[in-house]
Amino acid sequence: MTAIMIVLGIETSCDETAAAVVSAETGVLSNIVLSQTTEHVKYGGVVPEIAARAHLGYLHGLIEKAMAEAKLDFGDLDGVAATCGPGLIGGLMIGMIAGKSIAVAAGKPFIAVNHLEGHALTPRLTDGLDFPYLLLLISGGHTQILVAEDVGRYRRWGTTLDDACGECFDKSAKLMGLPWPGGPHLEKLAAQCTNTAEAEKRFPLPRPMKGRKELDFSFSGLKTAVRIHAQSLAEDEKPALAWALQSAIADILAERCGRALTRFREEYRPLAPAFVVSGGVAANLTIRSALEAMAVSQSAKLYAPPLNLCSDNAAMIAWAGVERLKRGMTDPLDFKARPRWPLDPDAEPRQGAGVKA
Ligand code: KG4
Ligand code: ZN
Repeated sequence: MTAIMIVLGIETSCDETAAAVVSAETGVLSNIVLSQTTEHVKYGGVVPEIAARAHLGYLHGLIEKAMAEAKLDFGDLDGVAATCGPGLIGGLMIGMIAGKSIAVAAGKPFIAVNHLEGHALTPRLTDGLDFPYLLLLISGGHTQILVAEDVGRYRRWGTTLDDACGECFDKSAKLMGLPWPGGPHLEKLAAQCTNTAEAEKRFPLPRPMKGRKELDFSFSGLKTAVRIHAQSLAEDEKPALAWALQSAIADILAERCGRALTRFREEYRPLAPAFVVSGGVAANLTIRSALEAMAVSQSAKLYAPPLNLCSDNAAMIAWAGVERLKRGMTDPLDFKARPRWPLDPDAEPRQGAGVKA
């Protein structure tokens, strides 16, 4: 039995190029993330071809840096984990092939990681959480409610039928003339709203899916409502619209997750119900406090991993690699990248959810 288990993780599924080294015993040894914001900002979104080329340019140096910071050689590793889906195929193939090459050269096992499982297992790295727990994943590409039952075993209870939550922030922000990625800019703008009750009246935005029994989301109608208001918007009204949007999204998320938490308690009867929020949108403080208040009202504890482990990173991929390696779950070198790779293959497909399912 090896005393220490150490895994190199590689993440290239979207617009973050990342490499990290994680130890099963001592946690994160290095965690390097390069966000390709400058490459994509002038296009107002991620351009797949540009992202793939940038991954190719940066990845080698980032892996070297992650290994150097961890003060390790490839021979010291117990395994190499790379995100193999879901995501943009060009980027996925670059990270996957880099991971396989290192694994072959160093004679180590290769672990093909589902990016969503990386997000889902992060609270076990940061808080040592036991299964099962309820998870809300809100990012630029995904909006899902999941139950994490075990490594490799998830129940997807809800997903978006159209845009992801972060996409709704980003597209609405763009309509209001803010730079990409719009989420953080929109939060700053909303903080300048001085009369929130008035903002709510001036911009009565819809809450799509609120009150529905099934736990799915829909954000495209909200974005359309913002588009209509944005057409005749005075400059000094922008903070109020930003606040109204942020508060509508927080409201929807809290209501959907409140229902999910009730179901989670009924079906799993956990002694101490744990509710985790992860993904880039979890940085939003209004959303966090709405989720916190909802969790408290249901005597559950909210866990939100620190931001650098919550938005896309490779430490979560390395950690998922550790969890899989411990259970002997390694993958063959002919494993193919999967642009679409649902965490719960038994979940009913949702029309329009695409790779977000
Ligand atoms: O998880 P992430 O870094 O990357 C993926 O999309 O997988 O999430 C990025 C998303 C973007 O849509 C960004 O606008 C949103 O998270 N975001 C925020 C905030 N910070 C990041 N949305 C709302 N408020 C924020 N403070
Ligand atoms: Zn992600």
